[in-house]
Amino acid sequence: MDKVNQLVDWLRQSTKTVVLTGAGMSTESGVPDFRSKSGWWRNIDPSTVANIQALEHDYDLFHAFYCARFEALKGCEPHEGHRILADWEKRGIIVHVATQNVDGFHKAAGNTKVDELHGSIHAVRCHKCGHEASAQAFFEQETCTVCEGKLRPGIVLFGELLPEDAWNSALHTIKTADLVIVIGTSLQVYPVNQLPSMTRGKLVYINREVHGFERDFDLLFEGSAKETLQQIDAALKG
Ligand code: APR
Repeated sequence: MDKVNQLVDWLRQSTKTVVLTGAGMSTESGVPDFRSKSGWWRNIDPSTVANIQALEHDYDLFHAFYCARFEALKGCEPHEGHRILADWEKRGIIVHVATQNVDGFHKAAGNTKVDELHGSIHAVRCHKCGHEASAQAFFEQETCTVCEGKLRPGIVLFGELLPEDAWNSALHTIKTADLVIVIGTSLQVYPVNQLPSMTRGKLVYINREVHGFERDFDLLFEGSAKETLQQIDAALKG
């Protein structure tokens, strides 16, 4: 049996299928990922911009980087792969999406059960008192209207704890899943990279690069997230 039909079989047999995504899920929407040739970390050292030290001691650089991330999202929107996952939730084929992406594309495409494990770029807040602020206020380098603290996007910075509810929800659903489909992530970042190995269910990997993960997954699809999801969806409907 070929891999697509094997996965279709597993999807049909599974009563609890969970999807875990990373930046590779959004590159076909035009959003750069981090560790590919065209990724953010190819030209920028994350330790200089994506942590609390940068926020507190080099705010201009921190601010410039996250404005560039907002800019990179402009005009980008969910692609057919996101829409397929939303349709699969509606049809009861998947029960949950856990994502490392902060672009909000899974919810924008229509998924309602989404855990944003690394937060959301759209949720700007004061770093000191947590008071919410607008993205516009962040762009204009305004300070918090309550305590004059620095504004920051609601993205989990390196060294920060993940949002507790999102983590607990993703951990529970993945642990108890019959089938976990991991899409578009290099699985380099702790603790999300620990989640796949915690499931009791079958593990599938859809990624441009799968080398080195052969022993960790029951089925591997090397290639485009969008095209692979389209193939699987067509076979499901077939
Ligand atoms: N289809 C399938 N896979 C793709 C596609 C695509 N269209 N585009 C890129 N990929 C793959 C890349 O080959 C890479 O293996 O997706 C993976 C993306 O990996 P990263 O760039 O490391 O992104 P991610 O795994 O989501 O990073 C995790 O690191 O910097 C932090 O907080 C940031 O959430 C991010 C975390």
